[in-house]
Amino acid sequence: MRVHALFPTLVYAAALQKGDSRAFNRQLLKECRQLREDDAAGRRWSLKNYAGGYTSYGSVHRLQGISPTFDALRRKLNRHVAAFARAVEWDLQGRNLEMTDCWINIMPRHTVHSLHLHPHATLSGTYYLQVPSGSPGIKFEDPRLDRFMAAPPRKLKARREARAWITFPAAAGRLILFESWLRHEVVPNRVDAERISVSFNYNWF
Ligand code: NI
Repeated sequence: MRVHALFPTLVYAAALQKGDSRAFNRQLLKECRQLREDDAAGRRWSLKNYAGGYTSYGSVHRLQGISPTFDALRRKLNRHVAAFARAVEWDLQGRNLEMTDCWINIMPRHTVHSLHLHPHATLSGTYYLQVPSGSPGIKFEDPRLDRFMAAPPRKLKARREARAWITFPAAAGRLILFESWLRHEVVPNRVDAERISVSFNYNWF
């Protein structure tokens, strides 16, 4: 007898680089804070859509085309994106996965990023710049959850791959990659300090 586990959902977690990323992160953080100062349209967008926090998602969302620092981040991410594409076994037939969007997220205390996915994208991810101790990670939902209406609940201590939700802790210098259809959220930041990250989409067409 064998029980087969089919149709895996892959999530990639890694450090951005082998060496110390603090100097690189300091430069990125400086630019994030500067952008918040300069981006009045983004602050207005965030008031409506990201209460208490600031995101450039609705205003300046192609940072890789504007800032050499964010373009350097793109180049560092490309290696990880290629590794993820190999793990998923995508057949890209001579096409390239390329970064289409890259934006920043500053989450002070009480800011929340509710459950969502990333439409019009192939692969998405987040790179963490500043993660105060106790601030939330990224929570993924089993993509089949809406089909489980009559299924029994899973055991509280079910093995990880059988759980309906999995949270990956956030840590400065680390990144997470996932397929863009996978729903995820960041629960409210309960710490009185800013959690700062860079999110991005890649596309193959
Ligand atoms: Ni997201």
